[in-house]
Amino acid sequence: MFSIIAAIGKNRELGAQDNLVFHIKEDMKYFRDTTMGHKIVMGNSTWKSLPGKLPGRENIVISHHTVPNADVTITDLPSFITTHKDTPEEIFIIGGGTIYKEFLPYATALYLTEIDSAASRADVFFPDFDKTKYTKTIIKKGTQDDLAYIFTKYTLN
Ligand SMILES: NC(=O)c1ccc[n+]([C@@H]2O[C@H](COP(=O)([O-])OP(=O)(O)OC[C@H]3O[C@@H](n4cnc5c(N)ncnc54)[C@H](OP(=O)(O)O)[C@@H]3O)[C@@H](O)[C@H]2O)c1
Repeated sequence: MFSIIAAIGKNRELGAQDNLVFHIKEDMKYFRDTTMGHKIVMGNSTWKSLPGKLPGRENIVISHHTVPNADVTITDLPSFITTHKDTPEEIFIIGGGTIYKEFLPYATALYLTEIDSAASRADVFFPDFDKTKYTKTIIKKGTQDDLAYIFTKYTLN
């Protein structure tokens, strides 16, 4: 099964110029703790934005070409989705915008850090989704400086 994990702004902002728009320390730790030990799946642009492989997790990168240093490259996305969507193993989809959009129809849970701020310079957005199809749980609320955020989990009904 697929679970999406993302940090989004008020307008579903995800990134700007191949980087994150929000840098929240507690969110980084939450992301690490939640994904640790799992397979993580990302698009090649997100992969290239990282300093290197994320330790303790199988780094799976989606690209049209083999990606050096990734644990696994997926070139045939439809076949990966078909073979993994109904497995009991929780596989985390970690971005970016293109990949979230491609996996959204198959994800059974969305771990969204909802940040109460807009980022006008954003150029990548989380896809719009029908919230009535999910049950929302608030995991934790927090603030960093003047930035308020909520760790939420949307579970598909
Ligand atoms: N806020 C958050 O939680 C969060 C999380 C992750 C990323 N981000 C941000 O999101 C932005 C990156 O997102 P993005 O949408 O531009 O890029 P992306 O989704 O990370 O990667 C796009 C790339 O993935 C590959 N790809 C996508 N679909 C494919 C398919 N069906 N078959 C084969 N390859 C496929 C292609 O790579 P090739 O060109 O190599 O073929 C494509 O160029 C950055 O700003 C990043 O910082 C934010």
